[in-house]
Amino acid sequence: MEEKKISDYEQYIRTEELLKLQKEDGERSCEDELTFQMIHQIAELHFKLVIQYIHLADAKMKAKDVMQATQQLQRVNMHLKHLPPVFDMVKVISPRDYHTIRLALGRGSGQDSPGFNTILKLGPTLWQPFEELLTEKNLTPLELHKNIADNYELYLLMQELTAFDENFQSFRQHHIQLVRRMIGLNTKSLKGIPAQALERGAKFEFYPKLWEAICQLTDWTGSSYNPKPL
Ligand code: HEM
Repeated sequence: MEEKKISDYEQYIRTEELLKLQKEDGERSCEDELTFQMIHQIAELHFKLVIQYIHLADAKMKAKDVMQATQQLQRVNMHLKHLPPVFDMVKVISPRDYHTIRLALGRGSGQDSPGFNTILKLGPTLWQPFEELLTEKNLTPLELHKNIADNYELYLLMQELTAFDENFQSFRQHHIQLVRRMIGLNTKSLKGIPAQALERGAKFEFYPKLWEAICQLTDWTGSSYNPKPL
């Protein structure tokens, strides 16, 4: 029998292996298990890139290259903003079919996603190299907000870190909406974790000092949002 010729593209992208990573037709609990499994795999691939960019942002900050660190964080943010529409692709599955898939899942849970958990662990570690960059210039986040013009590159980096924290929280919040659509929030999930635990998680901040500085700036300006009519 003639051997199937594999093109350079297939060889480089490893399409054959990639497309074998899903359950075959006969093995699926229902048609939409393919969607369920693939969207999770796609999310894991995004997480993998995010992790690489976080490591690079860390290295660039340590090398005092503020612009390149900012660029790496822009990439992180691009992926985190792109993930919610990817997650929405799971919503084509009916809640009924999801339960069929869920039974086939055993004790599997997205909570054990290695990519997600690595980002959760790595996120806060970027604070230290950023704080060192601030200290070198005798700045605090509040002072940086006040003196943008003199420290513009560092300001952009701070904004990108803030966006990273915000985007990660929004992404977790978005996942809660997905859970709401698929299984509801007033229920116990497979692992018996109530929805409130997910809500708490979505409020977790990587960089509390950056959020604090925004409040401090507002207080410093003496702004009053008194509801009295003008
Ligand atoms: C049918 C759609 C989905 C449902 C019903 C669902 C349900 C849940 C539930 C109930 C939890 C809480 C932990 C547990 O009890 O297992 C959870 C956590 C999680 N799931 Fe999903 N999930 C869905 C899709 C996804 C997708 C596509 C991903 C992509 C990898 C994912 C990743 C995660 C992550 C990372 C957590 C931890 C979230 C956090 O701590 O904020 N989930 N999921």
